[in-house]
Amino acid sequence: MSTIAVVGTGYVGLTTGAYLAHLGHDVTCADVVPEKVERLNNGEIPIVEPGLDELVHEGRREGRLKFVLGAANAAAGAEFVFLAVPTPQGEDGAADLRYVKEAAGQISPVLQPNAVVINKSTVPVGSARMVEEALGRSDVFVVSNPEFLREGSAVYDCLNPDRIVIGARHQEAAVRVGTLFQKLQAPLIITDPASSETIKYASNAFLATKISFINAMANVCEVVGADIREVSLGMGYDKRIGFEFLKPGPGWGGSCFPKDTKALISIAEDAGYDFAMLRGVVAVNDAQYDYTTAKIRDAVGGSLQGKTIGVWGLTFKANTDDLRDSPSLYVIDRLVAEGAVVKGYDVTQTNAHAPKHPTLDSVQIEADPYAAVEGADVLAVLTEWDEFRWLDFEKVKGLLNEPTVVDGRNLLDGAQLRRKGFTYRCVGRP
Ligand SMILES: NC(=O)c1ccc[n+]([C@@H]2O[C@H](COP(=O)([O-])OP(=O)(O)OC[C@H]3O[C@@H](n4cnc5c(N)ncnc54)[C@H](O)[C@@H]3O)[C@@H](O)[C@H]2O)c1
Repeated sequence: MSTIAVVGTGYVGLTTGAYLAHLGHDVTCADVVPEKVERLNNGEIPIVEPGLDELVHEGRREGRLKFVLGAANAAAGAEFVFLAVPTPQGEDGAADLRYVKEAAGQISPVLQPNAVVINKSTVPVGSARMVEEALGRSDVFVVSNPEFLREGSAVYDCLNPDRIVIGARHQEAAVRVGTLFQKLQAPLIITDPASSETIKYASNAFLATKISFINAMANVCEVVGADIREVSLGMGYDKRIGFEFLKPGPGWGGSCFPKDTKALISIAEDAGYDFAMLRGVVAVNDAQYDYTTAKIRDAVGGSLQGKTIGVWGLTFKANTDDLRDSPSLYVIDRLVAEGAVVKGYDVTQTNAHAPKHPTLDSVQIEADPYAAVEGADVLAVLTEWDEFRWLDFEKVKGLLNEPTVVDGRNLLDGAQLRRKGFTYRCVGRP
């Protein structure tokens, strides 16, 4: 078992630290936010991620998982140091590597000889080199190990990965990193750092492409009178296509796809290639936010001015509290810009620790889903929380000004709602 430091205790870092401790390693996680470290040391989990609290509590109880302030305090004496710091979108669309550089600078003086620094943050091609330079140490190794977890099922994904990718210039370092994961059953791909870094962007760009494609197909279905559910079922049985990521919605978002698609466009552009196809994928997605907004506008009679919209779902997907680049918030921005009043409810936004987002200032946040539809002209479902399917729709009908639902996720039982007298519109289906 190894001594590991994890720099950054966000969605990736905290999950990584917790599951590596679960695998038996001795893990110290670091963050720069004192409040976060304090809460973690008090046994509080600052994010919503199913199963994470059990893993963190197990690691703390068994003395294999600690939390400290500052990267250097975790990295001193560690054999492996994972970097799981943010790589947000910079002003020009490229990934902003400032946090990665900062973290490398902080750990450099304390790294023990032969330590392996493992980059889990999503970073452009060439970043392993950049980390080597920022470290300025010829006696340590730098390895790329991109993360593929999905928020909402991060713990499951880490313990059951589809594959583990390691990009290294030195075989010895790659093998040492591979042994950290030896208890997991997954194909191990050992490659060069540039290919490893590219695998991550290519994977996210491909998944975003799949969603943009099915959203565009849903829009086609609406105009030709086909049903996207039947269409995606018929497509999904083809093994070359598969069922995953063939669900239409209000557009994709979240902490990764928007910034990673733009970063890949920027990486290609810098290298002299115009990734027109991926630009198209992003454009289709932006249009989908507009299209969803138009559907809500139509549902209230053609103008949003002065209308009240009850929104269920604010997070970018279900089972997370993450609001970063949430499609729901992009649609809400558009509704508010056209003069609507928005009342919103989300399963996790009633959590006092949930992160704040500027769009929420323009939303009347309600503590329960019924309050969000009271006096509203339409209910818009924008995140696929399962809880929404089981609510009392007779009550909802009585609270709405008009019994109208725009289901941006094809979540609810449309036939049942229509039987109850609702006007129901969804995505790509009659
Ligand atoms: N969130 C995902 O679903 C996901 C999936 C795969 C890959 N990634 C990638 O992983 C990286 C991290 O993403 P995230 O969602 O976990 O970010 P996050 O914002 O949730 O967490 C990052 C954490 O790092 C901390 N931090 C920043 N600088 C630090 C430093 N010098 N020392 C210690 N802590 C520091 C921040 O305070 C924060 O708590 C990004 O590159 C992202 O693209 C994210």
